Amino acid sequence: TDMQDWIRSDQYHNRFLIPHDDALSSALNLSEQNKLPAYAVSEAQGKFLNLLVKSIQARRILEIGTLGGYSTIWLAKALPVDGEILTCEISDEFAKIAQKNIDNAGLTNKVKILVGPAITLLPNIHPDASFDLAFIDADKQSNVEYFIQAKRLVRNGGIIIVDNVVRNGRVADPEQSDASIEGVRRLLEYIQNDSTVEATTLATVGEKGYDGFLYAINKPSNN
Ligand code: DHB
Ligand code: MG
Repeated sequence: TDMQDWIRSDQYHNRFLIPHDDALSSALNLSEQNKLPAYAVSEAQGKFLNLLVKSIQARRILEIGTLGGYSTIWLAKALPVDGEILTCEISDEFAKIAQKNIDNAGLTNKVKILVGPAITLLPNIHPDASFDLAFIDADKQSNVEYFIQAKRLVRNGGIIIVDNVVRNGRVADPEQSDASIEGVRRLLEYIQNDSTVEATTLATVGEKGYDGFLYAINKPSNN
């Protein structure tokens, strides 16, 4: 099937480009043992996020949706010693697993997990927190609200990434509708009418199927 080809292809490329990392593997294992949904980003996508942090020399990152902390670890690994990632997780149970994974990766000092619904946590974060990068990967029906909060909290010229905006092409299929698909569609409409961001969708296929990232920059206000 296509899926088997995509998995083989990811694995082929990863073999050359992504060295084995015990902490990342252990994070996936502990997540699986505790029956967390297998919604973490792929290895290649995690590495991409890691490279992005390094490219823009990000010091402060906002993540919405921690799950087991797999993407959190990829992001945090790229931060300088004084860097910090604030990550929001609605499930106390998932947050506990994530904290174990983060501690095991030696990243305790760089990661702060906020436990609760992001929809109530985010408005309480002071805009002076000024993040360089936000990664939105939580419930898809709230994408617009999360994106608005990310724009408020990310500095001018900073980056906002949203996961799962393609969903096997279902977002673009007029025959399909569910709360997640509608959440992505509303985000696209929102961005279309927002002159303060520039964005593109980068569709991907791989071990997590056919999906994609939305990549947006918060436009400098004087440009
Ligand atoms: C789902 C959520 C995700 O964040 C993801 O990467 C894949 C799937 C989901 O809710 O189905
Ligand atoms: Mg996701």
